[in-house]
Amino acid sequence: MRTLSDFDAPRCAELETQLFPGDDPWPTEAFREAFNQAHTIYIGEDDPETGTLIGYAGIAAMGPADAPEFEIHTIGVDPAYQRRGIGRRLMAELLRIADHYGAPIFLEVRTDNEPAITLYENLGFQRLGVRRNYYQPSGADAYTMKREAKPQP
Ligand SMILES: CC(C)(COP(=O)(O)OP(=O)(O)OC[C@H]1O[C@@H](n2cnc3c(N)ncnc32)[C@H](O)[C@@H]1OP(=O)(O)O)[C@@H](O)C(=O)NCCC(=O)NCCS
Repeated sequence: MRTLSDFDAPRCAELETQLFPGDDPWPTEAFREAFNQAHTIYIGEDDPETGTLIGYAGIAAMGPADAPEFEIHTIGVDPAYQRRGIGRRLMAELLRIADHYGAPIFLEVRTDNEPAITLYENLGFQRLGVRRNYYQPSGADAYTMKREAKPQP
């Protein structure tokens, strides 16, 4: 696992087109901008043999400095590499960051995205409510999910 940089943006955009075809997938430039914001962390996983990026995930810090909250921006795994634990590992790293700050973490997920919802529920996220028409142009609804802050030791 490693931090992503500008160099990875075209590959992330390529994966997005595959993974989110009806939901306005981010282009290369959107990834570059997201990588370079001060309050974001983007991580990825490479195929150990070919070096090709096969999974990516990003998180943003929000809220006041003394009570931070995090938001999962995106997560995706190359379809050829799914169901091998890569998504769980990427999520675990993002949760580790939120836990480090004792912060809750939010995300949105399509209400029909069973694989992702299962992953999130297994990691302690709970559904807060539904946002109608959240995804465009598909018009699909989203659940907002939250994982509570882990108390600081
Ligand atoms: C969601 C996603 C990132 C999961 O990545 P992954 O590497 O395949 O996930 P993992 O192999 O780490 O699976 C972890 C757990 O998630 C759940 N899960 C993953 N894929 C699943 C599927 N197809 N059906 C049901 N549960 C699934 C399971 O609980 C799984 O644990 P298990 O394999 O021990 O049963 C991947 O399916 C993906 O890229 N989907 C398209 C993009 C997307 O929807 N992103 C989320 C947007 S909110």
